[in-house]
Amino acid sequence: MRFVRIGELHTGMVIAKAIYGLRGVLILREGRALGARHIEALTELGYPGIYIHDLISDGIELEEIVDEQTRHNAISMVKNLYKAGELTTTRTQIMHREMEDLINEIVSSIFESDAAVVNVPLLKSYDEYTYRHSVDVGVLSVALGKSMGFTREKLLDLGKAAFFHDMGKMFIPQTILNKADKLTEDEFVIMKKHSQMGHDFVEKVLLQKSSIMRGVLHHHERFDGSGYPHGLKGVMIPQFARIIAAADVFDAISSTRPYKVAQLATEGYEYILGNSGSHFDPEIVDIFYKTIAPFPVGMTVKLSNGLNGVVVKNNANFMSRPLVRAFEPENPSVFEMIDLSKGAAALDITIVGN
Ligand SMILES: [Fe+2]
Repeated sequence: MRFVRIGELHTGMVIAKAIYGLRGVLILREGRALGARHIEALTELGYPGIYIHDLISDGIELEEIVDEQTRHNAISMVKNLYKAGELTTTRTQIMHREMEDLINEIVSSIFESDAAVVNVPLLKSYDEYTYRHSVDVGVLSVALGKSMGFTREKLLDLGKAAFFHDMGKMFIPQTILNKADKLTEDEFVIMKKHSQMGHDFVEKVLLQKSSIMRGVLHHHERFDGSGYPHGLKGVMIPQFARIIAAADVFDAISSTRPYKVAQLATEGYEYILGNSGSHFDPEIVDIFYKTIAPFPVGMTVKLSNGLNGVVVKNNANFMSRPLVRAFEPENPSVFEMIDLSKGAAALDITIVGN
């Protein structure tokens, strides 16, 4: 499979990964051929592109760190938690326990995975942003914590803090959350309250421990002290919050929002690297660089030798130089495998675009 941008899709292309529309409804099954109506619908939904099957990408498989079904279950559970709000009935208590069980399951699958590199899918399901974002930030944060050598128990606490980091948004008016234009100063003051409100919710309703609450409270602090709510600086910012901050911004950049279309993982990746030491903790940026692939499997890249290539596999010790299946843009049926990390000839080739 490979990822094809929305503008380059044409009818007849075969879908390699199911597409979900609003509220998790399946709109296109894997194996179906694209019709003109589908392309229109995908454009309307704000998809930046989709995964397709073709000859060039035959045999290339994207291994996800958490399977799609579990991800969808988690998204709908987060949504139910938001809807239940501050209720503390028996039913909501059962929901909280179910959510914790699911986070536990996700942490286990990441903890036990032997993948050295995390490939973030370029295709994001189009569930309501806040719920999907919570789950993606959770998965990403736990993957980073694993690279940092956290114990299973510490990973679970980090996972909870990350899954719950934006719970405070349930108290912010939808008009502010979904505003297409820039927020006014007054609106931003209200928006910023979500971290304190989330902290209070996680403490009083979800009854979580202090390291988890502090991860939620400080996820918008910046390493140079310019963040909120307390303007904490450097390692005074709790470690969980420093990890969540990087995962949060990376996922926000690669998502479609009311005010912007999603950018590819590479752009989010560059933003994190470029803001090391100012916005983000340099130590965590370093871990990020070693854990998350800038060119995920299935991405088409332009090479400096004039060829195009589809990423087949990432090299854990040399993330910017993956194994690619290279082909001439006009003649994609003839291709060769090039490991950009090996051999003098291959090391001369660079990725110049995607
Ligand atoms: Fe937030």
